[in-house]
Amino acid sequence: RRLREQSALGGGQERIDQQHARGKLTARERIAVLMDEGSFQELDPFATHRATDLGLAQNQYLGDAVVIGYGRVNGRLIFVFSQDFTVLGGSVSEVVGEKICKVMDLAAKNGAPIVGLNDSGGARIQEGVTSLAGYGEIILRNTLFSGVVPQISVIMGPAAGGAVYSPALTDFIFMVKGIGQMYITGPDVIKAATGEDISHEDLGGWLTHFTKSGVAHFAIEGEENCLQQVRRLLTFLPQNNGDDAPLFPSPDPADRTDPELRTMVPEDSARSYDMKDVIRRIVDMGDFMEVQEGYAQNMIVAYARMDGRAVGIVAQQPAHMAGVLDIEASTKAARFVRFCDAFNIPLVTLVDVP
Ligand code: HXC
Repeated sequence: RRLREQSALGGGQERIDQQHARGKLTARERIAVLMDEGSFQELDPFATHRATDLGLAQNQYLGDAVVIGYGRVNGRLIFVFSQDFTVLGGSVSEVVGEKICKVMDLAAKNGAPIVGLNDSGGARIQEGVTSLAGYGEIILRNTLFSGVVPQISVIMGPAAGGAVYSPALTDFIFMVKGIGQMYITGPDVIKAATGEDISHEDLGGWLTHFTKSGVAHFAIEGEENCLQQVRRLLTFLPQNNGDDAPLFPSPDPADRTDPELRTMVPEDSARSYDMKDVIRRIVDMGDFMEVQEGYAQNMIVAYARMDGRAVGIVAQQPAHMAGVLDIEASTKAARFVRFCDAFNIPLVTLVDVP
């Protein structure tokens, strides 16, 4: 019991207070918000790093810099890892790499989604190449399990250096606005290498990835809201590629007619309209979850339900650049279609493209 209490403190109360002062939750608090109450089972809470060089012998924390385990989201099995920034900046040691791989393997074996909560300064500098080997193993699993179980990343702090490659390979990336940052190297190294001054936010903040690079699928204000949206996304997804998405019987009858649809799309092709109004009219309860809303807005990709069954919507947006197909829009749609194909989610395509 004493060891468990110690492990639950991660890098210690002072570091936890610093984390809270920045408006961030701790690794365990985040899991508590994500999972159904009381369902989380932690694995390997007593693992510690093996390295002893460069001061690491005096800097050991039970559980090392990641919390792993499994639990339920809306009653369904989910595997999770949550990086603990209070332990050496959430950096990935050999042992952290092993813990993350263990929970990824369990997710694949059990056919359940894996959710990664990211808050990390990257490879643990003191461990050097063994840390990089850990990333090799993680990234290998990202590729092997792609299209097998859904992989979701939530960026809730820095995802710097090695910490950014793996989430960038996953199916869906959520960023917490103003808190999540993704870059391969930070502003100091950019300055040293190229002389350019750039802020953390401009380099890898949510706006950059949500609107320019297209790497972030969702950007959401506040950690708790963000984790609630992860829970929501999971309701549209099956557990694995041999499964179907869950049915949500809806009070919205599948055979209802909607006279407004007759006039919503203008007969004059020079006139524009908002395709999202059309989507709202044809899906259950007018409710859909748009993916990559800030990127390539001439293309809409979204999840919704029809007669209680999850569908992927792919639609041009005449209200933005007349809904033309350019490279960004095509890539956005292709990636979405590929995910739906792998996970048995039917597609509904609304075409209006000049
Ligand atoms: C070891 C690290 C660490 C790391 C942070 N810490 N990153 N320890 N390895 N990668 C430690 C800090 O020394 C500090 O400990 C504590 O975590 C908190 O960090 P701060 O710097 O005080 O926090 P903050 O000001 O919020 O800055 C966060 C940060 C910054 C932007 C992430 O720490 C940073 O730039 N870290 C290095 C990022 C980086 O270059 N990573 C690349 C590694 S190479 P103390 O005890 O001092 O408080 C890599 C290559 C992978 O990843 C290739 C894969 C194929």
